[in-house]
Amino acid sequence: MRGSDATVDRGQRSTEGGGKTPVKVSVFGLGYVGCVSAACLASRGHEVLGVDVDPVKVELVLGGQAPVVEERIGDLTADVVASGALRATTDVTVAIGQTDISLVCVGTPSAPNGSLSTRFLERVAEEIGRALADKPTWHTVVFRSTMLPGTCTDLLIPILEKSSGKTVGVDFGVAVNPEFLREGSSVRDFFNPPKTVIGAADPASADAVAALYEGLPGDVFRVEIPVAEMTKYADNSFHALKIGFANEIGAICRALGVDSHQVTEVFLADRKLNISPAYLRPGFAFGGSCLPKDLRGLVYAARRADVAVPLLDNVLTSNEAHLRRAVDLVVATGRRRIGLFGLSFKPGTDDLRESPLVELAERLVGKGYDLRIYDANVALSRLIGANRAYIEGRLPHLGQLLSNAAEDVLEHAEVCVVGSTEPAVCEAIANAGDRPIIDLVRLPDAETRRAHPGYVGLGW
Ligand SMILES: NC(=O)c1ccc[n+]([C@@H]2O[C@H](COP(=O)([O-])OP(=O)(O)OC[C@H]3O[C@@H](n4cnc5c(N)ncnc54)[C@H](O)[C@@H]3O)[C@@H](O)[C@H]2O)c1
Repeated sequence: MRGSDATVDRGQRSTEGGGKTPVKVSVFGLGYVGCVSAACLASRGHEVLGVDVDPVKVELVLGGQAPVVEERIGDLTADVVASGALRATTDVTVAIGQTDISLVCVGTPSAPNGSLSTRFLERVAEEIGRALADKPTWHTVVFRSTMLPGTCTDLLIPILEKSSGKTVGVDFGVAVNPEFLREGSSVRDFFNPPKTVIGAADPASADAVAALYEGLPGDVFRVEIPVAEMTKYADNSFHALKIGFANEIGAICRALGVDSHQVTEVFLADRKLNISPAYLRPGFAFGGSCLPKDLRGLVYAARRADVAVPLLDNVLTSNEAHLRRAVDLVVATGRRRIGLFGLSFKPGTDDLRESPLVELAERLVGKGYDLRIYDANVALSRLIGANRAYIEGRLPHLGQLLSNAAEDVLEHAEVCVVGSTEPAVCEAIANAGDRPIIDLVRLPDAETRRAHPGYVGLGW
């Protein structure tokens, strides 16, 4: 997730010791996230005021009791309430008036149709906005609830501005600071977070959030607000995917009489390709002589053993949808002369077997596009053995379409489709002028290109 727009501070060593600068902070929503955040922040020396619409939760906190059951939260709440570091109220105006920063931890449940319900967020934003209207000093509103990209900027900031009559960044600050704690170990997770993510429209708001966690371990990422919102979804969908994957592998193993935990030991020990950043950055579809073949083989074996593996079964469907996105992007340009840069299934090889770029080329040719292709590693003279047979079967006109010079392909192209980041390709694309560019592989300068009309990234 770390783009060049993001800044990252390496975490410090101190753990549960107090924060260096005490902050007056209100925490809206005393559920799992809010009550853990409130008690932990109070234990780090901050002056915390918990706020909830539910008077029972507020009474519980005032009596030194945690409104949720969690490891360590009971004792911690009793301690910080007894010391006066944590108080609670149902009064929003008091909470905003007596603090400098508010953490919003209200629920964002699923609506019946599966969409995210923002009704609690909207209500709390309106209430906080009304209280901000009468507050003469600066206040920072920080959303910790899980919410989809765009929720803060398109929904919550307008509500805050409307109900306060003030302007974000001028009269008050806003940030998004997703929570990564796990129920069951949330107090431990608070003091030892995997990372801290701060999305803010202005540096002052980001600084105000960072001050709350000063001294905690883990990297601190300062990113744009939608990036902060999305990181939480990337994390949770990946965690869900990992569990589904592990369970499907387990089910297949059991059916085949193999101990899945022995397999997993070996799988997990591979920190180069498995438990690593490998294969985890958005790019083009996968292909090659192994992944599609082996996936099909495994899914077939599962089917024969009557084991349902919908996740693995749909990985190739997902890959096909991704390839389709690339075709659709070309079609959407409305131009006919296409330059395709890259053909082999991955850089540095001339292997064309099940290359998604070959598949893309074939579909474009099939649709009547006037295609020229450049790939440094693929030249007719080098097409031997399996590749020759593959090309002759899949792209019989390859000889006419392939060019030995990237510039020739550029000259031909009304649209450049980039499937490789090899130097000759980057050089040619640098000279593409105002031709539309469809980037399948994230060019090294994609970050700046994204702002230019005519450039489109396949997944960024
Ligand atoms: N539970 C987790 O482990 C976890 C972890 C990370 C992130 N999150 C996210 O954090 C958010 C909160 O989750 P949770 O499990 O703590 O929710 P929760 O339902 O336990 O608590 C939400 C609290 O907000 C209160 N509330 C609602 N409207 C309010 C208002 N206008 N003013 C003040 N309080 C109000 C409710 O009374 C409730 O006590 C969600 O977006 C969730 O997805 C949860």
